[in-house]
Parts: sequence; structure tokens; C-alpha cells
Amino acid sequence: MPTSLLITGASQLLTLRGRDPRRGAALADLGIIKDGALLVCDGLIAAVGTRAKIEALAEAAAAEKLDLGGRVALPGFVDSHTHLIHATSRAEEYELKIAGASYEEIARKGGGILNSVKKLRAATSEALKQRARRALSQFAAYGTTTIEAKSGYGLDVASELKILRLHKELATEQPLDIVSTFLGAHVVPAEYRGLPAGVRAYIALLTEKLIPEVAEEKLAEFCDVFCDRGAFTREQSKQILEAGKQQGLAPRLHAEQLTRTGATQLAVKLGAASCDHLEQVNANDITVLAKSQTVATLLPGCDFHLGLAKYAPARKLIEAGAIVALATDYNPGTSPTMSMPMILSLACSQLRMTPAEAIAAATINAAYALRREKHIGSLGVGKLADLAVFEVADYREIPYSFGMNTCWLTMKRGVVVHAADKAKA
Ligand code: NIG
Ligand code: FE
Repeated sequence: MPTSLLITGASQLLTLRGRDPRRGAALADLGIIKDGALLVCDGLIAAVGTRAKIEALAEAAAAEKLDLGGRVALPGFVDSHTHLIHATSRAEEYELKIAGASYEEIARKGGGILNSVKKLRAATSEALKQRARRALSQFAAYGTTTIEAKSGYGLDVASELKILRLHKELATEQPLDIVSTFLGAHVVPAEYRGLPAGVRAYIALLTEKLIPEVAEEKLAEFCDVFCDRGAFTREQSKQILEAGKQQGLAPRLHAEQLTRTGATQLAVKLGAASCDHLEQVNANDITVLAKSQTVATLLPGCDFHLGLAKYAPARKLIEAGAIVALATDYNPGTSPTMSMPMILSLACSQLRMTPAEAIAAATINAAYALRREKHIGSLGVGKLADLAVFEVADYREIPYSFGMNTCWLTMKRGVVVHAADKAKA
């Protein structure tokens, strides 16, 4: 017997229906249905519309009922950039940063990513999994239903494979979808530094051994590189991403975060799914991105956490016509948060995006960045019944409040995975 669920009582149902990806003025079009309702059948959306229209459907009569009580409902957030698996926080570095040390200074002294690499290598799979499980339930509690997850704190064959296998195991053990990305090119690990041919040898390990193994075992869909000062150059990034592409891993890039390297234009040339960060892009980069299908993913949580003044030029990117998405970049060094609503607040107050633009950037455009736009990111017939419901009467209140959680209910494939008010859900 198919299981059907009739969801009514959304004061505003943000469908995000329409053409995707969203560019320019279309980014603010949320496709709102007042007093909206949904019919869900076997985890998929069977019908969307006003309460009157959906309740009149023959299938609605026998369906189980869920009343949202006048709250606001939208597609579950798609967090298209996270570093899910890591062993511990780096709170001690946070204190150094507050005292004036820069992110790069800390990294040069063996802190930063290499600090997390040391800790990950020493951690058991079980301990890493425990921490990730707790994080995933937090993602769900803040309205996220799909996350991308990158490796990149292992940086040797065994540890990178350990992380990617955990992505796979976690995907089967808990409800959120996990989209796996190989980021063996996060930085050059300590044991390859200081040798004349060290960087070349590490790149050879990535391109000749790890990427083929990752592809063979189907452990990732995407290949990412941190292209920046202190990490990989544009040329090295190209070599690594091309090797990934040859093995069927679609490229994405950490681009123009600390310095401008030309990574954005490389991403476009390679047909990358996204290039992420973009604080240092120039006018030409914006023009090139705007003409492309590569998503510009902005990560304002990093600038906020690091106390940096220069955020990515979101308005210029939107006005030029780039496909703008938002993500948490959940990681222990630059953005320790699982809260997409907090990212929306930062997008509004720091990037000057409107609440509507921020919501579209965190749903349909983010789905596009993961090449999942046919299945998630909007509420349309045939798509997954992935839903976030907020304890507000107007969607603008979602980014308006910050530092507290207004997510009332999260649903993945028609199943409630978070309920703030368990008695009612
Ligand atoms: O996206 N920039 C590179 N990677 C992460 C930071 C990783 C870390 O500091 O541990 C980022 O900001
Ligand atoms: Fe990142």
C-alpha cells in the first residue's frame, strides 16, 4: 500500500517552482502559495497547490494528515559545501585569531588544515562517525535535508579513503542525503613538504593512485581543489581536476578565498559545477562567471568567523547574472556552523541579498550546484518531499532572527527527521 500524507496549513508555501537555475531578478521569485498544501506519496510530492485545491483531490481523503498551523514551509535547505568529517574543533586557534593572528599565519606554523589532518589520522572511524552523526542531526534541526561532504583532512591514501567510506556509510544510516566530494588536494601534507619534488610527488599520488581508486570504488561524485596561496596553484589545480574529470569526477573549486589566483576562470573553462568563496574575484571574473553554468557559491560564515571585512561581491554577481548559491562551509577552521538560517542572516546583512534571494540561493540554486535540481531544491510534482517548516508567519523572519533556531519541523522524503514540538508533529 502506498503511504500518502496531506500537509496543510502553510501560511506561505515557498515552492521555488519555475525555471532553474535562478539568475538576476528571477533569484527573488519564491513561487509563494498562500494557505498552501502538499500531497506526498511514498516520499515524493504528488501535488502542490492551495489547500482548497489539494484537499479536493480524491487521494487526499485517505491520506494521513499534518497541519502546519499557519507556519511557513519551504524546500529543505541544500548545503552544497561542507567538510563534514573532522576529528575535533580548533577552538584554540579561534582564540589566536581573536588576538590578531591571521588564518594564514596559523597555517604556516603547522596549525590550520594540517592540525586537523594530524587529529583525523589519529582518530578511529567510529569516533569520526559519532561526531559526524551529531553534526548531521544538527543540520536537520536547522532545516537542511541534503549536504555535500568533502574529504580533505586525511591527505594520505588510507585516511582519505576512510573519510569517503564514512560518507557512504553515513548516507545509509541516517536520513539526510550526502553528496560526496574528493578533496585530496586540500593542502600538501607535511610529509611531502620541504622535499624538492614533494609537491609533484603528492600530485602524482592524487592523480595516479587516489583519484582512480576513488572512481573505481564510486566513493565520490565530485573532485575539489583548494586553489590559493599556501595550497595549490592554478596550474596544479587544473592538472588535478582534469585527472578527476577523466575518471568521471565532476570538478568544483575553492576559488579566490584568500588571494585571487584565477581559479574562477579555470572553473568555468573546466565546466565545473561550482566555484566557492569568491571574496577576491575581479570584474572580469564576474563577467565570465555570469555567462557560464558554473554556480558561484558564497560562504559568508567564513568571513564572519574569521572576522574579515571583505565579503564576496554578491550584489555584483547577482546583477551580472551569475548563478548564486549559499552554503555553510561547515568546517573546524573557518566556519564551524551547521545552521543555514544563520548563513541566510549573514547573506542578508553582510552580502546585501534580500531574504527571498537568500532562500533561493540556499535551495534551488544550491541543488543546481550539486546537479540534483531535478530531484531537490523546489517543491514540484515528482520531487522529493524534503521540507523545512519555520515557526514564523512571514518568510522574511527566517533570516531576520539570528542565533536562535526557528525551524519547527524538517522532513526528508516525507518522513519527519526533526520536530521542535514533538507533541504536535
Ligand atoms: O573552505 N579554504 C579551505 N578549506 C576550508 C577551511 C579548512 C580549514 O581551515 O580547516 C574552507 O574555508
Ligand atoms: Fe571549504
